[in-house]
Amino acid sequence: MREYVVTVQNTDVSFEVQDGETILTAARKQGVWPQFECGWGSCGTCKATLVDGQVKNLLPDAPALTKRDSRKNRIILCQSIPESDVTLKARLLEEPEEHLTTADYNAVVTDVKLLTDEIALIRLGLNRPAPYQPGQYAILNLGGGLRRCYSMSNLPGGHELEFIVRRYPNGPGSQTMHTLTPGMELTLELPYGAAFVRETKRPKIFVAGGTGISAILCMVRQMSLWGDSMEQECMMFYGARTPNDLVLMDEINELFESIKDGSIIPVVDKADEDWDGEVGFVNNVVGDYINKPWDQYEFYIAGPPVMVQAMRKLLGEREVDVTRVHYDSFG
Ligand code: FES
Repeated sequence: MREYVVTVQNTDVSFEVQDGETILTAARKQGVWPQFECGWGSCGTCKATLVDGQVKNLLPDAPALTKRDSRKNRIILCQSIPESDVTLKARLLEEPEEHLTTADYNAVVTDVKLLTDEIALIRLGLNRPAPYQPGQYAILNLGGGLRRCYSMSNLPGGHELEFIVRRYPNGPGSQTMHTLTPGMELTLELPYGAAFVRETKRPKIFVAGGTGISAILCMVRQMSLWGDSMEQECMMFYGARTPNDLVLMDEINELFESIKDGSIIPVVDKADEDWDGEVGFVNNVVGDYINKPWDQYEFYIAGPPVMVQAMRKLLGEREVDVTRVHYDSFG
């Protein structure tokens, strides 16, 4: 197998990258920690300047890369595969940030349960417990170079990970996830992302769209575990296409019973005759329930990119400080 050497300019750091490995993956495996966050090409935290050599960009239309970046020879380490020895100018940390001690794990599928015709609860067993924060996600290697991000819906601490996954007709990642059966093996990397629930005294608003419920459920499970120590208001908005797509509602309602000042507001795009709740785009409903100045809240958002964007726009218009808006974009 071919390997290339990556040298970080103005440091004594160099490391090897195996054929087909991203520079970020190879670096952290060898104890070199460039700054990074999403691992997926959306945040731009891992940008570096390519001083010498060639790389292949796995995600040419990565949201993090601008035309100016291309002109300046900037690359993103999480999506760059060397095609020769490479010299970079990059920001390195002495050790990983506490919430991003990302490592590689072997996993085996232990259970696949259909919650609806299109939404599955998939459980993986790990070769060792994986530390992560409630709300973070893993990148799963699904074979043939297919890598996809999925948020854990269960709390950390055990040997198992749980994901809620919808099958999309044109989504190779979700299609592959829905073909998994118990006993199949795969590898994954975790944790990634900065949208994890903070143990602060601010009132909290969670907004989940579709299978964004996976990350939000994990955070709500954590809120429930914190129990009475979290006395502040906690509202969760859960938007889905139809009432049938609002999965795991019994458990969610039960969790909210143990959250002191908690309320859950389900919202559907298309109601049926039995539905007496909110109807519409989930973002449009949030404002009807907020009863304090918006900038007093912390917001946690997970769902399709269009929903996350719309919610961020709304919060920007309401002048909520960006440090109190937590979301990940990897849809
Ligand atoms: S970590 Fe590479 S773009 Fe986010």
